[in-house]
Amino acid sequence: MTLLRTPDLAVDLGTARIRVAGGRAGFCERPANPATGATMERGVVVDASAASRILHPMFKERRRLGGTKMRVLACAPTDVSPLERNLVRSCILEAGATSVIIVPEPLAAAVGSHVDIGSRYSKLMVDFGDGVTDCAVISDGRITASVAERTGCADLRRVIQRFAADATGIVISDSEADRILRSLGTDREKPVMVEGTSRGQRSSAPIRPANLYAELWPVMGLMLRPVKTLLENLDAGKGAEVIEDGIFLTGGGALIHGMREAVAAATGIETRVVKDPLGAVIRGACRMLPFASCLNLWKMWGTHQRTLPV
Ligand SMILES: Nc1ncnc2c1ncn2[C@@H]1O[C@H](COP(=O)(O)OP(=O)(O)OP(=O)(O)O)[C@@H](O)[C@H]1O
Ligand SMILES: [Mg+2]
Repeated sequence: MTLLRTPDLAVDLGTARIRVAGGRAGFCERPANPATGATMERGVVVDASAASRILHPMFKERRRLGGTKMRVLACAPTDVSPLERNLVRSCILEAGATSVIIVPEPLAAAVGSHVDIGSRYSKLMVDFGDGVTDCAVISDGRITASVAERTGCADLRRVIQRFAADATGIVISDSEADRILRSLGTDREKPVMVEGTSRGQRSSAPIRPANLYAELWPVMGLMLRPVKTLLENLDAGKGAEVIEDGIFLTGGGALIHGMREAVAAATGIETRVVKDPLGAVIRGACRMLPFASCLNLWKMWGTHQRTLPV
C-alpha cells in the first residue's frame, strides 16, 4: 500500500507509551506516565490536560505539511466507555487537532500487522498491552466480536514488586520489575537477582523463579480469560475460520517469554506474534489515515462506529 502524504496524524494513547505517526516515516513515542503523575491508566486517559501536554510537542514534531486543519485518527480499547472516549477526544483537540476519529485498537493492530481484515474469513487479534488485554474477531473489514480485560503488563510488574518485597525485603522500582519480567517471563528455572533498596541501603538478592511464577500465573490467567471467553462465544463457523488462520498477538505483552505458548496451550490454536508487535497499533492507525483523508470519512465514521470500509 502506498502511503499518501496528508496533514493528518495517527495517535496510539497507550498505558505505557504514547505514540504519534504521520507526516513522515516511522513514529515517535513518549512515556505515558512521566514522574509528574498518571496520564493513562488501564488503557484510558485519566488526565486529559496532562495527555495534551505530552501530545502537543509530538504533534508539532510530526507535522510537516502546513494548513490549518489537523485531523487525528486515535485508537482506544474496544470496551471504551463514552466518557473515556470523550477524554481521548478532548486531550487530542486540546493538543491542536481540529477533529478526531476513534478506531478500536485491535482493528488498527491488524492493519498494522498486514492481517487481511477485508477477508470474509474471521481473524482473531489479541493485543497484550501495558494496561489492557484487548481481543477482537475481525472479518469483512470490521470487528464482529470483542472482549477486553483491563489487565496487562503493568499488573505483572506489580506482582513482581510485591513478590520481591515479600520474599527478600527489597523494594524494587517499576523499571527493575520490567527488567525481571522481560528476562524471566514464565521461565521457572532461570536464576535471577533483584536489585533495589532495603532499609535505605542499595541491596540485591536472588529470587526463586518457580515461586514468582506461581504469583504471576493468576494475573496471566486474567490476561488469557478474554481470549477464551471470545472463543467460547463464537459460532462454530467463525471458530473454524479462526482455527484455520491461527491467533495473532500484538502489544508488548506478546514479547514476554512464554506468552505465545500460554495462549496456544489455553486455546489449542496455533498462535503467532506479529512482526514488531509494539508498533502494530500505531502503524495500523497510520496506514488508515490516507483512506480517511481521501474519502473524507471523518464525518461518516463518527466517533461511535467501529468499522473500516474496505
Ligand atoms: N521486549 C519485551 N519483552 C517483554 N515485555 C516487553 C518487551 N517490550 C515491552 N514489554 C512489555 O510491554 C509493555 C508495553 O506494552 P505496549 O507498548 O503494548 O503497551 P501500551 O500500548 O502502552 O498499553 P495499552 O495498549 O495496554 O494501553 C511494557 O511496559 C513491558 O512490560
Ligand atoms: Mg497498546
